[in-house]
Amino acid sequence: MTGSVLDLARPDILELQPYQHAAWDPALERMHANEMPWRAQGDNTRAGLNRYPEPQPKALVERMAQLYGAPVQQVLVGRGSDEAIDLLVRAFCRAGQDSVVITPPTFGFYKVAARIQGADVIEVPLLRDGFRLDTSAVIDAGRRAKLVFLCSPNNPTGNLLGEEAMLQVCCALARQALVVLDEAYLEFAGRPSLAGRLAEFPNLVILRTLSKAYALAGARLGTLIASEEIVGLLKRIIPPYAIPASTVDEVLNLTEAPQRASAAARIGTLLAEREVVRQHLERSRNVVSVHPSDANFLLVECRDAYAFLAAGKSAGLLVRDFSSAPRLTRCLRISIGTPDQNRRLLAAVE
Ligand SMILES: Cc1ncc(COP(=O)(O)O)c(C=O)c1O
Repeated sequence: MTGSVLDLARPDILELQPYQHAAWDPALERMHANEMPWRAQGDNTRAGLNRYPEPQPKALVERMAQLYGAPVQQVLVGRGSDEAIDLLVRAFCRAGQDSVVITPPTFGFYKVAARIQGADVIEVPLLRDGFRLDTSAVIDAGRRAKLVFLCSPNNPTGNLLGEEAMLQVCCALARQALVVLDEAYLEFAGRPSLAGRLAEFPNLVILRTLSKAYALAGARLGTLIASEEIVGLLKRIIPPYAIPASTVDEVLNLTEAPQRASAAARIGTLLAEREVVRQHLERSRNVVSVHPSDANFLLVECRDAYAFLAAGKSAGLLVRDFSSAPRLTRCLRISIGTPDQNRRLLAAVE
């Protein structure tokens, strides 16, 4: 590698002539994008849904840059962090040749996105003791891979990964692989993002989402924060007009200062509820252990996971079954709900 992180990208993607979407110039009237000139009947939206939205909408990119404390040139917005994961795998992994590293048990889409692209998946399990990173094994595997996915706080185990360990991985793989750090649940941990370390580690990529702490999963808005080179490359392959106009408007409205203050207060309420649920579950006869959590869910090892699930369903409540996943035998993941939902679940399982 000669020094640019782009040397890790697929050569054919680097050479790709990107799709030329219709020029975005709000000062001019649009007769260049084969749109209808009239709105659909009843369309009261700001921009009019007859018009294609702005690619990488400037106001939205600025808002996410402000929210996550990153320069605008280092921000890419997409349809959830799922889209960012997909774009990374497609831009960096050649089918049948390149690999990604994952650290199970972890978020399932990393593996699926890699497999869809035809990339190999190297699994370096988290250590049994506290689901910590097996740092040296991740570094060894990373030397044979293009992308290393780390998730902190990790889904479904709920724990943060050690900051020093993650930075050690970035440092050791500086010229060999991108380290993709998924911070989907970071707001619940009250810890600073590693986005502040991007200048030191050009191979670091951070993923954030509005789907969790900001209560906007239905809007589908994820943010990738990385070096300008990586953001520039991904802009070349993200589908044209990726973000729907309605999402742009809703997200801009729902991430203003009052909404941000309300989201922060809700996080406080959720964390207090998480503690109540944890304490009750620890006393439950059907619970072996509740794993420590820095996220908005709890991973619970049951004596009889089936009975727990059935009790929840009888109260009209679904929790996530991981009991047949490797290393998560008899485990369920409970997303903390409203106080009423939590109490109904606790009453049902008792
Ligand atoms: C760790 C992690 N990353 C990413 C996602 C996907 O988030 P988004 O809604 O932004 O696509 C999830 C969703 O559950 C997740 O748990």
